[in-house]
Amino acid sequence: MKKSAAVLLTILVMLVSIGALVQISPDNMKIRLKLPESFIKKEKTIKNPEDIMVLVNRRYKLSEDYKPKNMVIPKVKFSNNITAEEKQMRKETADAIEELFNAAKKNSMELYVVSAYRSYETQKGLYEERVSQRGKKEADKYVAEPGSSEHQTGLAVDVTNKLGSKGQLQQDFGQTKEGKWLKSNCHKYGFIIRYPYGKEKITGYNYEPWHIRYVGKKTAEEIFEKDIVLEEMKK
Ligand code: DAL
Ligand code: ZN
Repeated sequence: MKKSAAVLLTILVMLVSIGALVQISPDNMKIRLKLPESFIKKEKTIKNPEDIMVLVNRRYKLSEDYKPKNMVIPKVKFSNNITAEEKQMRKETADAIEELFNAAKKNSMELYVVSAYRSYETQKGLYEERVSQRGKKEADKYVAEPGSSEHQTGLAVDVTNKLGSKGQLQQDFGQTKEGKWLKSNCHKYGFIIRYPYGKEKITGYNYEPWHIRYVGKKTAEEIFEKDIVLEEMKK
């Protein structure tokens, strides 16, 4: 074989080998490494969606048709644009949110529910809308893909103050007196700030001072005291 032909053959073999390890996904043109199965953190379908400790995130997903059973509308204030669906939440969450909002009132603060339960379909619409407005990378920082949102469990509630109830949720809710009070007190009523500042790498989402999640008083107190997130709780 001529030297040039041998070089060409070597290059060809190298390219085929690289091609076996790397693939370009056509939907987003991202290069993904084809790692062995054991290396890939596979998504899992949640088997205990009714458990108030249920972990829902990018890895642990709810099935498309999951809807919590015992949902009610609490006697609290809602933001202007909330839909009838989003006013609903699980009975346990509703009882706790009434307690939490009443406690806020005793401290001269008015809290509002912006969004609680969201079906898979609603979350899908929200996610796709955000992707079309800001692109996938930005959307992924704040909006969960359908099936990965805690809002589908009826245990998550986005809350705000009077100003927020009239417009969009703002990052700086955490700087308001209501946001600060919520952070320091929601555990007493069974809630946690689910996406705290500084825990973005663990939760997979940016800081959301408005998103609280019902886990029950015992767990909420433990999470608050240890300054951890749900992903860090021992099974
Ligand atoms: N904003 C949270 C991550 C959600 O969409 O469920
Ligand atoms: Zn939320």
